[in-house]
Amino acid sequence: MPISIQEINTVDHPRIDLHDKELNRVLGGGLVPGSLVLLGGEPGIGKSTLILQTVLQLHDQRVLYISGEESASQLKLRANRIEQHATTKEQQPPSDCLIVCETSLEHIFAHLATTEPTLVIIDSIQTISTEQVDSSPGSVTQIRECAAALLKYAKQNSTSILLIGHINKEGNLAGPKVLEHIVDTVLQFEGDPQYMYRILRSIKNRFGSTDELGIYEMQQSGLRQVSNASELLIGNDHEGMSGVAIASTIEGSRPFLIETQALVSTAAYGMPQRSVTGFDLRRMNMLLAVLEKRAGFRLAQKDVFLNIAGGIKVSDPAIDLSVISAILSSNMDTELPNSICMAGEVGLSGEIRPVNRIEQRISEAQKLGFKRILIPEKNTQGLPKDKYTIQIHPVRKVEDAFRILFG
Ligand code: TYD
Ligand code: MG
Repeated sequence: MPISIQEINTVDHPRIDLHDKELNRVLGGGLVPGSLVLLGGEPGIGKSTLILQTVLQLHDQRVLYISGEESASQLKLRANRIEQHATTKEQQPPSDCLIVCETSLEHIFAHLATTEPTLVIIDSIQTISTEQVDSSPGSVTQIRECAAALLKYAKQNSTSILLIGHINKEGNLAGPKVLEHIVDTVLQFEGDPQYMYRILRSIKNRFGSTDELGIYEMQQSGLRQVSNASELLIGNDHEGMSGVAIASTIEGSRPFLIETQALVSTAAYGMPQRSVTGFDLRRMNMLLAVLEKRAGFRLAQKDVFLNIAGGIKVSDPAIDLSVISAILSSNMDTELPNSICMAGEVGLSGEIRPVNRIEQRISEAQKLGFKRILIPEKNTQGLPKDKYTIQIHPVRKVEDAFRILFG
């Protein structure tokens, strides 16, 4: 019977606190009981580590960890490695998380019936198969069938289930993608294998926002939560170095400062090279065109390389101003003034467009000891300037910024 929306009662189930600030935040404030969550990421990025270290700290949940990839002793070895570190910080009773190595869905349901866990981990969904379908484990049909059965179990028993899924570099391997519409929440664990930072993003979330971000650092003893991202993302020694500019950015709800590095050199061969990491190549080409028009930058003969520190992908447009400043700085081989940072989107005619949450950006820069910040002039309306000790330079066009930076 259809009923009026006014008559529907909502029961607000308390969320499960996973005792990991980053993970809780990305989930939208903890794990919703009875939800089905997919954690995707490239092999070796640290998915199993993240989940194992999380469940080892959960003392108020009955956890069943189903591993289809590693043996129980391998898991124990990893747990020892993580716990060795954890117990030195804070004495906690040993976790009684249950482990089973299993790949048959039918056997998994038998284990669920005998152990009645409140939280189930499946590592990974690609290794699980059901007798109901003929195809081999990891195939689209198997993955879809198993996930649908697990979804039903999760909803009927109010048990949260976390599926781990591997995706390849392009992120389009059939497996986890077919699951995105089945599960409640899709988290993605990413990072440049060359760096130790790992970013946890939510791509879909029925129970929270999708622009939150979690940051970790991979250490010998597991993943460390990074609560102050800025300290890691700006190198402390760039005195006398050209081509470096610091941007005050916001990802999700957290502001942080990040280093943009550029290298501009004369193209040795006919075709100039353009290469970016952590930034959109087309956007950089657009900014180069603005530079050519506004600063007489002759890009046709130059190789341009751009790098966002830490291997982090930034989607905040406010980073534009620091990108062009870094490029110009490298081109002129002139370093930027000390303790200056900036935020601003650059438009096609070289205008500096306003950015969101300017106050948070300024506060973060001030907190980290920056003395001056360049912000879009349009953002100064209603800004309580007296509140800050950091010197604020409003800029309207890229030329204004260049004048302040390079005199
Ligand atoms: P893993 O969690 O197995 O990745 P996934 O499940 O996503 O495939 O992590 C693999 C890498 O992490 C491996 O190369 C070793 C490294 N690692 C550490 O650096 N420190 C640790 O404490 C652990 C457990 C793993
Ligand atoms: Mg794994």
